[in-house]
Formats: sequence, C-alpha cells, structure tokens
Amino acid sequence: MAEHDRHAVAEEARSPAPEPRPIAIAAPSLGDEEWEAVREPLMSGWLTQGPKVAAFEAAFRERHGVAHALATTSCTTALHLALAALEIGPGDEVIVPAFTWVATANVVILTGATPVFVDIDPHTFNMDAEQLATRITERTRAIIAVHLFGLCADMDRILAIAGAIPVIEDAACAAGGAIGERHAGSMGVAGAFSFHPRKSITTGEGGMVTTNDAAFADRANMLRNHGASVPEEVRHSGPRPHLLPDFDVPGFNYRMTDLQAAVGIVQLGKLDRFLDERRRWADFYERELAGISWLRTPRTPAGYTHAWQAYVCFVDEDAAPMTRNTLMDRLQDQGISTRPGTHAVHMLGYYRERFGLKPDDFPAARDCDRCSVAIPLHNRMTSDDFARVVAALRAIDRAAGAP
Ligand SMILES: Cc1ncc(COP(=O)(O)O)c(C=O)c1O
Repeated sequence: MAEHDRHAVAEEARSPAPEPRPIAIAAPSLGDEEWEAVREPLMSGWLTQGPKVAAFEAAFRERHGVAHALATTSCTTALHLALAALEIGPGDEVIVPAFTWVATANVVILTGATPVFVDIDPHTFNMDAEQLATRITERTRAIIAVHLFGLCADMDRILAIAGAIPVIEDAACAAGGAIGERHAGSMGVAGAFSFHPRKSITTGEGGMVTTNDAAFADRANMLRNHGASVPEEVRHSGPRPHLLPDFDVPGFNYRMTDLQAAVGIVQLGKLDRFLDERRRWADFYERELAGISWLRTPRTPAGYTHAWQAYVCFVDEDAAPMTRNTLMDRLQDQGISTRPGTHAVHMLGYYRERFGLKPDDFPAARDCDRCSVAIPLHNRMTSDDFARVVAALRAIDRAAGAP
C-alpha cells in the first residue's frame, strides 16, 4: 500500500462515520427567480403596498377562483381582519376547532369575542361537523373552519349547519386545496391564507384574505389601511394624491410590502408544480408505510384535493412500540426532523386558565395533541431523503416485532 493510501486508511479509521444529512420538517423552495423579482421594487423605491401587491392579489384571485383577494402581513392578521370586517366584538361567540394553531383562537380573543371550541374528526384532523351543531347559540356570530394541513374541512356540512352564520375558512395551510371544483378560500364568506415559510409557498411572513362579497372586501380593505375612507390605490391614481383621506373607523396597518408580493408572484407561479411533487411523495409515503400497523397515515376523502402542507400521521400508542414523543426522539437522533401535527388549543395555558377547560372536554383534539406526528414533506427533499424516512420508520417497526 502506498504511503499516502496508508494515511488515508488511518485517517478514516480515526474519524467517525459522517453524520447523515439532516432532513428538515419543512423548507421553503426559493431560487434565482425570487432573487431577481425583488430587484424591481428595490430599485424603484416602491416598497410598501403598491403595484406588486396588486399583481399578486390578481394572480391569487385567478388561481383560487374568487372575486377579491387582499394581501396582508400574515394569516393571523388576515383572520383578524376578517373578524373585524364582520364587526365581531365583545359579547359575541365564534366557533373554532379545538385542534388548530393557536392563532385561530387568539384572533377571536383579540376582537373581545369568546372562542367556543368544537372537537375534531381524528381521521381528517378537521372540525367535527356533527358536534358543530351542538355548539351554536344565539350569540354565535361566526364559525372558523380550519383546513388543517392542507385538507379542506367538510364545508358542505359546515355551511349547511351554519345557515346564515358566516363561515370563515382558515386556509393557512391550504393554498391550492379544493373540494371538487371549489377552491379553498372561495366557499365561506372569507378565506385566510398564510405564506409563512412552513407553507407550500412563502413570502417570508404574509397572508391573504379572499372573498366573493364586494361589501366585505371594501370593509376589509379599509380596515387593512388604518380605516382610511379612500383606498391607497385609488388615492394614488386619482387627481389629488397629495390630500389625505378621512378616517371613519379605527383600523390597522396589515398591508403586505411590494418586496414580499414580488416573491409571492413567483412562488404562486410554482404552486402547481410544488403541489404535484407533494402529492407524489404523499402517495409514496402512503404506499411505503402501509405495513406499519401502529402508524395511521392521512387519508383524503373522495373528491378532495389535499394541498399537503404537512404529512401528518397518528401514532396508535396502544399498539406502537413506543410513545409518539420517543418516536420523534429516535428519528431526530438520525437527523430526521418531525413535529407534533399541531396542538389542542383548549389545553394551552391561557385557554385552560381563562375558560376552565379540561383535556377531556375535547377528547379527539386531546389525543391528536398527544399522538399526531408530521414527518418531513417539502419540495427540497430528494428521493433519498424520502427513502431514509421510510427506512427509519420501518426499522423501528421491525425492531419492535423482533423477539
Ligand atoms: C391553521 C393555522 N391558522 C393560522 C396560522 C397563522 O399563520 P401565520 O403564521 O401566517 O400568521 C397558522 C400558521 O401555522 C395555521 O397553521
């Protein structure tokens, strides 16, 4: 053996095996096109809401089949804006699912209204429409139906039960989701989307309110911009842009910047490719993980288009070789990131304390809080990454079955 080969062998023996490449739970997929897109607003100096936001809104309207789209700073502010546009406030009740990101309930608190929780269907992770009927009172002023992880809630039944009560779609995770030909965000009085980096398309932070109701859109537009009686785009394109409008109601500044919208336009153009890739890998997971009896993979009801913001399974802890948390530890040890699907809001400190709620009040939400697990699914994963996740889960299953 040549001297330099001997050195190489000795070096290899001394150094531990290389760590496997970490696999993130989610990662934004951005490239040169987004980089190029921010040049124009940067160089023009028009940074806040302007022509790029208008173009992003137009493209979003077109893709989601809605008459109006209003870009915001996040989905949280989009939801808050929708509730404010419906004039919801103290004394009112708003029904929300117990298993969702805390923002869905927080925005109700921020209006001064009371969130009323409803349990979920553990097979879809979405609002249990049957239980919804039992939670409606004469003070119910709105229902927020969440399309969790990209799967639309059962909107036909929810809308039928709601009757005249407005339904807001929390479509934070559901850009590109649909029921038949009806797009997420087009079925209720309003939809609210998120462009946080954990979503399929991102603007860093960002959101969108969608609606088919022109009066609602006008009111939300006014509230988005401090309550100004003349929208910015009208004032700037009118004959006297130098004069300030009147302010008839107290509003917010929930405007998206043109820098973010420039990125959003490019990302939206990639949405269908992202969704196709995600759908293909979701099918792969379903096929390859089918033999693991204690891991329930997500199912898409017939006629629904899942937007696969996340691939969330349920660990049947009675049959599984370990708890959900230990499973997450094991995968993390191999560089594979996971997360709980989301949390049961009625079990979080503020809601527990203020409303005296107990975990057992919403048992399906409680169980999904403890047993749901999102495994990696995003557009920067390679086929090797997906194969590694499957192999790791199968190895855990095989080890459990070994005598
Ligand atoms: C269901 C749901 N609603 C609302 C939000 C809030 O979105 P944002 O971070 O854009 O405010 C999220 C974020 O993860 C979410 O998952």
